Amino acid sequence: VEQYVNNDPAVKGIWCVPKYSNPTGISYSDETVKRFAALKPAAEDFMIYWDNAYCVHHLYEDDRDEILNILDECKKAGNPDMVFIFASTSKISFPGSGVSVVASSLNNVSWILKLMGVQTIGHDKINQLRHVRFFKDINGLMEHMKKHGELLRPKFAAVTDTLEKELTGLEIGSWVKPKGGYFISFDALPGCAKSIVAKCKALGVTLTGAGATYPYGKDPLDSNIRIAPTFPSTEEMKDAARVFVLCVKLASVEKLLEG
Ligand SMILES: Cc1ncc(COP(=O)(O)O)c(C=O)c1O
Repeated sequence: VEQYVNNDPAVKGIWCVPKYSNPTGISYSDETVKRFAALKPAAEDFMIYWDNAYCVHHLYEDDRDEILNILDECKKAGNPDMVFIFASTSKISFPGSGVSVVASSLNNVSWILKLMGVQTIGHDKINQLRHVRFFKDINGLMEHMKKHGELLRPKFAAVTDTLEKELTGLEIGSWVKPKGGYFISFDALPGCAKSIVAKCKALGVTLTGAGATYPYGKDPLDSNIRIAPTFPSTEEMKDAARVFVLCVKLASVEKLLEG
């Protein structure tokens, strides 16, 4: 990133999901945040779009990721106007009909307010009030997120426990065990992702399409599958995870025999 941003004026921005990233579930280290903040872009109008969509979406109460505040770090590094931070209650209250947030320097916020003045007549203030009354303050929000965590923990465990039990040591797949967010990212042997997704579908388990998280949906290695355990019940998720590992094994054997 540093090499491209600092040398190529055609690079105008980067979109980041810094915490419990979609799709990998990882969070940026302090060093990574500081290096983003200290970029010396070749383009004068380069911007970082810091999509902190999973900022309070922890799975565990005692084992959480926290990241540095990019705005503070940008100020320290002499780049106070280089970042827009986004968040929303899409995965807190209602997807697509909650409240969204943008944070930035005073300069940038005044610029956005000018644009918004002609973009929208007014916000949905009733919905904003609904959110304030329901959550009350940051403590109310964190209590609410604990309940989400309780619902999601067993569903994530259904996937990661099955992956660990069935695939550890076989060298036919790797995955990250996230501490928050909404996804588990699985890397199969190269050339196997589409086949695994098709095999699961034939057995009644619908996964997000292979390669969905890549630009234009094209995974050059055909290896990545993003597992979203949030929607099914825990029991369904346990069955689906068993189907998934079976299909990973089948697709891998087929691939290895081909070679
Ligand atoms: C990383 C990321 N950013 C943004 C969004 C969407 O947020 P909103 O519904 O507020 O546009 C999602 C998914 O809902 C997401 O996973």
